[in-house]
Amino acid sequence: MAERQQWGSRIGFLLAAIGSAVGLGNIWRFSYMAYENGGGAFLIPYIIAFVLAGVPLMILEYALGHREKASPPLAFARIKPLWESLGWWMPVVTFFGINLFYTVIVGWCMNYFVFSFDLSWGNQTEQFFQEEFLQISSSPFDIGNIVLPILVGTAFTWLLCWIICFRKISSGIEKASMIFMPILFVLTLVLVAWSVQLEGAWEAIKKHYLSFDFSKIDIGTASGRKVWVDAFGQIFFSLGLGFGVIATYSSYLPRKTNIISGALTICSVNCLYSFIAGFAVFGTIGYMSSVNGIPFEEAIKGGTGLAFVVYPEAINQLPAFNKLFGAVFFLILIVAGLSSAISLTETLTCSISDKFKVNRGRITTLFCVIGFLGSLIFTTQGGIMILDIVDHFIGNYALIIGGIAECLLVGWILTSIKMRRHIDEVGTQKLLPIWDIAIRYITPSILFIILGVGLFNEIKAPYEGYEMKALIIIGVGALLLTYTIAFILSRFSWKNYSRSVNDQQ
Ligand code: PHE
Repeated sequence: MAERQQWGSRIGFLLAAIGSAVGLGNIWRFSYMAYENGGGAFLIPYIIAFVLAGVPLMILEYALGHREKASPPLAFARIKPLWESLGWWMPVVTFFGINLFYTVIVGWCMNYFVFSFDLSWGNQTEQFFQEEFLQISSSPFDIGNIVLPILVGTAFTWLLCWIICFRKISSGIEKASMIFMPILFVLTLVLVAWSVQLEGAWEAIKKHYLSFDFSKIDIGTASGRKVWVDAFGQIFFSLGLGFGVIATYSSYLPRKTNIISGALTICSVNCLYSFIAGFAVFGTIGYMSSVNGIPFEEAIKGGTGLAFVVYPEAINQLPAFNKLFGAVFFLILIVAGLSSAISLTETLTCSISDKFKVNRGRITTLFCVIGFLGSLIFTTQGGIMILDIVDHFIGNYALIIGGIAECLLVGWILTSIKMRRHIDEVGTQKLLPIWDIAIRYITPSILFIILGVGLFNEIKAPYEGYEMKALIIIGVGALLLTYTIAFILSRFSWKNYSRSVNDQQ
């Protein structure tokens, strides 16, 4: 069998893995979560989630891909053939459930990058975003027409994704990450430094970001429990756990490698990035609320509203270099989003070539075309509503189920002792014994609780007030459809099945 490709250097791999983790979610999702859930007090459940679920699962997924030298389907099939469809569910969800709309959001950012040259969003930024840019229809079932500028941005994103993924790992993804990541870090620091010295910025940061409202994280209250669930959800999405991305990337590492320090580096840099980016978000919004004399609570918004409504409004009001500030902000989103989109693409194409022994270049071309065609639904006038529902269901359920499956597979079926032996053997660092307890008991139990609380909330109140019919058809439909595709893929016979070197010893 042909040798598996390898990263050219450890730093190249780490930057690519960090590029995958650091994405749109670090910039708008983290800040909003922190604000909504008690400012600085949110950091406590966040850090606990980091330690109890983030790091143990990152080590697990990293080690799984490395031990098997395989993408998730092959790794799952080797450990427990019956579980192969769950192994397929990860790359399928990653690609069809997330990447198809993630690339569209990067496409929006490209448009807004261009708009920032003449601040074309005008003074009514909300109206501009919803009516002129997205041209939103009245319901997710009324998809209307494709919106041309969004189509162009999306096509461009897929083209870049294809150019990078088409090449070999070391000359494609690794090289791109070596260029993208330093640019991302420098631009982010520039933005943060710029934002914190604006009038009123530091006061807002102190009052809303670095303050502690402990009553908000009290487990005795329903809202307190929600904060804990949000913190775990944020860690999961942000580190990209349960997606199979890290397993795919680590399958290209050489045999000797330090898994523990690698996993810790990816987790820490990702979370530190979110924390630092938070200063830019709180600073800019703080500035806006202080010049307009409106309360901070009214100025801040979550999700897409933060980047495409609140930020443009704040940019309009900056004392100087507004256009440059806008361009830097949207460029940061483009770079962060693109490096995540690449990893979401690679996970599926790697899985397909692991199973069907097909030429990597051809399969990448095929899936970038399929991906682009699939994205079209999100470029329509009903696109944002479909996107919102798919994101909610996939983000809250598929990933958590993926995480639980990984814990059970590695912790109980393969056994954590075997995995620990592998980690100790290939690196120079030794794993703490608590890891076994974490992945066998603690992490899966917490994930089960989160799943249960999420389902309970779902039934109690329909997400974002959408009709139940829309939620079931689109949200539950996306879960079932992705699992069906995964199941079908698992039924084909292996063209490239090889036993793990570890089992032959
Ligand atoms: N972590 C990315 C973000 O925060 C999203 C992502 C998830 C990317 C999973 C890759 C894998 O935006």
